[in-house]
Amino acid sequence: MKKLIEIKHLDVGMFLEAEVVREEREGEEQRFVVPRNAIQAGQSSKRARLTGTMHERITRDGGLMLSSSGFIDRFRELGYTSVTIDTDKGKDLPETVKPLTDPTRPPPPSGRLVHFDEEIERASEAREATTETLKTALEDVASGRGVDPERLQGASEVITESILRNVDAMVSLTRIKQHDPYTAIHCMNVCTLVVAMAHGQKLNPSILNMITTATLLHDVGKTRVPLEILNKPGRFEPHELQEMRKHATYSGDIMREAGTFPEEAIAIATQHHEMMNGSGYPLGLKGDEIHPYARMTAVADVYDALTAKRVYKPGMPMYQALLRIIKNRGTEFDDDTVEDFIKVLGLYPVGSLVEMNTKEQAIVIEPNPLDSKKPKVALLTMPNQKPRAVPLVASMIKRSEAEGREIVKVLNPEDFEVDVEEIMKEVKERGETTERRRR
Ligand SMILES: [Fe+2]
Ligand SMILES: [Fe+2]
Repeated sequence: MKKLIEIKHLDVGMFLEAEVVREEREGEEQRFVVPRNAIQAGQSSKRARLTGTMHERITRDGGLMLSSSGFIDRFRELGYTSVTIDTDKGKDLPETVKPLTDPTRPPPPSGRLVHFDEEIERASEAREATTETLKTALEDVASGRGVDPERLQGASEVITESILRNVDAMVSLTRIKQHDPYTAIHCMNVCTLVVAMAHGQKLNPSILNMITTATLLHDVGKTRVPLEILNKPGRFEPHELQEMRKHATYSGDIMREAGTFPEEAIAIATQHHEMMNGSGYPLGLKGDEIHPYARMTAVADVYDALTAKRVYKPGMPMYQALLRIIKNRGTEFDDDTVEDFIKVLGLYPVGSLVEMNTKEQAIVIEPNPLDSKKPKVALLTMPNQKPRAVPLVASMIKRSEAEGREIVKVLNPEDFEVDVEEIMKEVKERGETTERRRR
């Protein structure tokens, strides 16, 4: 049985799912082991070199029997955080240790290494921890200290790892809007959405990490904007707007002062308000002059700012914000980036209130990466529009549960006085009790 496990549980005697890559270097053929279905979050993109008899072993078994701890240490050094083992061919995990995904369940959809519901808790913890790190970083900069690149790097890795395990879990959490601390949560959301878009391009983990750090810090320059301007509700006077707009340049300055951030990361942060048609700031760059990941950051940034709840404004519903971005594709926003963004959020982002062809109202509780028109929903009302005593969870991809239902409309929760977060919490808690009863 194949199991995705954390690298700390990898042990001598286990059979690692891996393949060999051959490369010519300096006229000599060298072989490298690349673990299959693994997560590598470190900075390194080097691979473990394979020598002698190990090669024979790996071609015969389509994997690697771990006979010494040297190789395991090497995989750790290379930044692998999770790998897949085959317990039919080698040692299993000790009974007390759980794999990252339940091997008895059908495999997760392609591009995801674990199921949404298996990742959501870990994603939520990673998000909380990173928001705290970010809050500290912002406070540090505000009080004249620099950012601590190492701490941020560590936080970035936790986020990247979770996105690599299941991108939908972390993305679904960006719906959670809080007043405070606005900048930290906004940066967290923008980072998640950009990394989720970049993840679809199957980038090297070290590039993903660079993007994570850059987007986490994209608004760090706001700490240099006077507080009375930063926190001003409503419209800015022209001179205030000018001050506010400097934050993008300040973000780049702060990162450069820290000394270790690559120029690419600095460009992403500095250019996050540039628009494709040149109407952005600080430089009014156009089209290809803007770094591709800065174009992604611009889309995610506007989306999160529109949907954010502030003291002086309610949050715009997710679908409306998405429509606003679609309206400006090709002018302000890069066409392909908008396309990727829609893919990441899904047609109906988690937390959307929707209406069915049966007139029932429902909340989207889990996306369906195979068909975004058919997510998992919690039905709140009956066809006669009377509320249900308890929400009924239905997976629209399962014909028996969908029962001919289709989503026809997105509704604004505020118009119907629906507290989305409260209902989602209730559904989750109830789900756990039914699970327990079943056991
Ligand atoms: Fe910004
Ligand atoms: Fe921003």
